Amino acid sequence: MCKYHFYSCALCGNLIMGQANHKDILPTCCCGPMQDLKLGNASSDAEHHRPYVHLEPGSVRIEVGEKVHPMVPDHYIECVFFLTDRREHYKSFLPGESAVAVFPLQQEAPIAAFAHCSRHGLWHVDLPAEDD
Ligand SMILES: [Fe+2]
Repeated sequence: MCKYHFYSCALCGNLIMGQANHKDILPTCCCGPMQDLKLGNASSDAEHHRPYVHLEPGSVRIEVGEKVHPMVPDHYIECVFFLTDRREHYKSFLPGESAVAVFPLQQEAPIAAFAHCSRHGLWHVDLPAEDD
């Protein structure tokens, strides 16, 4: 069960992440409450949206989708978040770019990866601890 929540602003498109400690309190943006994004349903289009995490010595490579996701102006992967026990990594994308992110890792344990599609919302994968 993912304890992180993502919130988006319906007016400006701002996207933020927070832990679910205060789930009854929604952050605000553009003078109104932000929308609490729901995670994508695995029964829908996961093959185009699920983040695939490739751990390598000293870095991690995240590709979005088992199949290539469209990256056109009205439908594209907007960003990838990668959480570890020490910090949060973030990369945003523009239409036309490839939805692949590479982040350096420095003695940190992966926790989860998220991808946000402009049309199909938020997708994630939890990553098992090394001793699981
Ligand atoms: Fe999509």
